[in-house]
Amino acid sequence: MPEPSTVNSLMGAIAGTGRDARRGGYSRPVYSTPELELREWFTSEATSRGLAVERDANGIIWAWWDLPAGHDGGAPSGADARRGALVTGSHLDSVPGGGAFDGPLGVASALAAYDVLAAREAAGDLQRHRALAIAVFPEEEGSAFGVACLGSRLLTGAIDTARALNLRDASGTTFADASCAQGLDPDAMGRDAAALARIGDFVELHVEQGLGLNGEEYTDAAGRGPAVAVASSILGHGRWRFSVSGQGNHAGTTLMSDRADPMVAAAQMVLAVRKTAAAQSDARATVGRLEPVPGGTNVIASRVDFWMDVRHPDDAVTAAVVERIHGQAQKIAAFEGCTVTMTEESYSGTVHFDAALTRALQGSVQRTTPGAPALSTGAGHDAGVLAAEVPTGMLFVRNPSGISHSPEEHVEDDDATAGTIALADTLEDLL
Ligand code: GLV
Ligand code: MN
Ligand code: MN
Repeated sequence: MPEPSTVNSLMGAIAGTGRDARRGGYSRPVYSTPELELREWFTSEATSRGLAVERDANGIIWAWWDLPAGHDGGAPSGADARRGALVTGSHLDSVPGGGAFDGPLGVASALAAYDVLAAREAAGDLQRHRALAIAVFPEEEGSAFGVACLGSRLLTGAIDTARALNLRDASGTTFADASCAQGLDPDAMGRDAAALARIGDFVELHVEQGLGLNGEEYTDAAGRGPAVAVASSILGHGRWRFSVSGQGNHAGTTLMSDRADPMVAAAQMVLAVRKTAAAQSDARATVGRLEPVPGGTNVIASRVDFWMDVRHPDDAVTAAVVERIHGQAQKIAAFEGCTVTMTEESYSGTVHFDAALTRALQGSVQRTTPGAPALSTGAGHDAGVLAAEVPTGMLFVRNPSGISHSPEEHVEDDDATAGTIALADTLEDLL
């Protein structure tokens, strides 16, 4: 057995992969060179531990710690030996210019937690009754093909397969072609009942992406919050594309009074997004991406596309906020002599994690983090998609600044170590 790795040494080994010199932080879009390098890294780490690595039809990587041959603990055997397994894992892709921890921390912690469990088993301190798998999901961020959690959505059938295959990245490549280039067969992609039957419970460890663990009610005299929390729910969230069309024209020869400038209309729409969300308690709305066509300094754009992300705990409120913004966008477009269309690109309703599994996680986590709280999160996760199919829970590791989707995302080494032990304890109790 190789020397057990620590989560921090594993994270250190990938710290140079996918750095983005222009944006800062990391850009690791799905199936890009850096993301593929990370998938290779994971495969090699898992294989060196004797785990059986396979990639399924949807591009999800699974590393299996099967029960030993001849196991007589009453668990399924033969072809069924992986049915109802305990699964942990996360993703390796990132947003453009993202932090080091969003995704990879869950994968590295899973490998390090395996090392802890293997050592406990070797010492006779762990009796397993089911297999364990570490899963790595592709395109969790949706930063290449626009729909977040694409791998888990395909696995569960939460997205229509034909629609997923037709999604395009910025260069116009379809997800079908990108998948083919990875040796996947688009005809085999989509809901995978056999793969789902292998997941008995899913537990994802993730960096906390807000200040939840730094709240006054949790921090000690030194102002430090607990290292780990258990997730309670994920806010409903979705993405909408606005296309604002006007009259492309010359920046010098077109009088201000003669313009139908979609950029001017889009700018007002962005302000309307902020104002509408700010007026609704607990709503969050963001425009983080805007593309003028054709995009020249001396060109009045003919079209501006922008993408809006809206989140709220109550799905009906999210729908009402989006409709309010849509109505305002139509009025703004008409005033500016433009037109606007709004298209929903994805939506995930609010998810409350499995109550029994969450209670079990809270119990296990108390061993390393007494008083670990249950936190709701505003961030989306593959765990949220899987929750519709299997009992699912999450652990969050403290993020001192609460900053995420940014190069400044940070986790202290001690907290990452505590997260690994909390994950190992949790997995042990569930195995
Ligand atoms: C993913 O991290 C998201 O919440 O968009
Ligand atoms: Mn993210
Ligand atoms: Mn993530």
